Amino acid sequence: MKLWGGNYSGDPDREFWEFNRSFPFDRRLLREEIAASRAYVAALGRCGALPAADVSALDRGLERVLREAGELATSAGDPEDVHSYVEERLGAIVGDLAGQAHIARSRNEQAVTALRLWIRTAIDGLRERTADLVAAIVRQGRGGLDAPMPGYTHTRAAEPITLGHFAAAHASGLARDFERLGDVRRRANVLPLGSGALAGTALALDREALARDLGFDGVSLNALDAVTDRDFAAEFVSTCALLQTHMARLAEDLIWMSAPEFGFFSLPDTYTTGSSLMPQKKNPDALELIRGKAARVDAAVVRMLALMKGVPTGYQKDLQEDKEAVFDAADTVGASLGVMAGVIGGLVVHRDAMRRAASQPEMLAASLAVALAREGLPFRKAHGLVGAMVAEAQKTKKPLREVAGTMVAKDYPALAARLDSLFDLDRAVAAKAAPGGTAPEAARVALAAALRAVGREI
Ligand code: ARG
Repeated sequence: MKLWGGNYSGDPDREFWEFNRSFPFDRRLLREEIAASRAYVAALGRCGALPAADVSALDRGLERVLREAGELATSAGDPEDVHSYVEERLGAIVGDLAGQAHIARSRNEQAVTALRLWIRTAIDGLRERTADLVAAIVRQGRGGLDAPMPGYTHTRAAEPITLGHFAAAHASGLARDFERLGDVRRRANVLPLGSGALAGTALALDREALARDLGFDGVSLNALDAVTDRDFAAEFVSTCALLQTHMARLAEDLIWMSAPEFGFFSLPDTYTTGSSLMPQKKNPDALELIRGKAARVDAAVVRMLALMKGVPTGYQKDLQEDKEAVFDAADTVGASLGVMAGVIGGLVVHRDAMRRAASQPEMLAASLAVALAREGLPFRKAHGLVGAMVAEAQKTKKPLREVAGTMVAKDYPALAARLDSLFDLDRAVAAKAAPGGTAPEAARVALAAALRAVGREI
């Protein structure tokens, strides 16, 4: 069924009709479309535009459209979009009265209202899944507060950290994504209905009540803005992209840290796959896909921004292209969050391998330079002196501890006496006790903060 055609003499070109249709993808907005329609009909009743009997007939009809949607939506002919689908089904149930659900209502406002509702629900689901993932990371981190591992910069061993510290780094970013999703939700959760096509409505609609009915926090204050702008959708996919980027980085870390050459972690068998040729292989496909799918979510951001930049103010059909970017970003991030939480939950930590890798004394060179500076040697000079110690140790193949002992014995006897403790790995990580450091207590605080940010307690 077409919702227009009064001044047309024939049907649209077949190929164009398929090109024009959004039902194959916007059918995912069915629940939202029907919720919005029911609320609108009720609002029409309250402002006297529809008699109570019509309101209840339409409401029952809309409820039935939703109930029957499962089978009908799959077999439905070729409706233009979800909005015309609902109108057509409603017509089959209540006859011409169906048209009255649309007094003064435009598909321009319907489309954007349904999308805002959909994004709101999607955000709630994604926040739950993000919280699950953060909780899984925090659990692993709490188990490894005293487990040293190397920290890397430029993929070169830099300074020892702990598993707790490493986990808190990832949990912190994801917790911010959780908060960002909440911010996006606030701006998305504004009611456009009552905007008409672009100019507002002449009906005495109580838009505040309509907003409350649909769980919106407020009403849009400019109809032209409300039907045009998709900034909320752009923000949503951008936030999804950051979230996926954070997961991709975690995936990347775990991929090589679980490689046999590192052996810090074993990935759960349930999240790896074998090779068709090499029987020994357990490949980190789950993590590789999480990393790879970041490309899709980034593409959604580009799609949204490119879509919006060229359209003039007012609804343009271009905007129909907003939905697939939104759906794809939400689907991809949602699935990735679930898989990532499963991987993290099943990760086996090999403390011995991490400790061995973190035990290269060179990784404490910076701590030694700081200790020398605290003895009064200007830090740049201390840095140079320790650099010379490292060179000497490498040249003579002597342990750095021994070389340092010889080189500081005369000028810095107090430090020389402390060298054993300075080169003790556990003490070295515990020494970074200021907020944000690797000390178990500092990491515990960071993990707790991430958990609190996502509203969880474990
Ligand atoms: N299917 C359209 C969309 O997704 C709905 C609005 C169409 N409005 C119009 N005037 N053509 O954006």
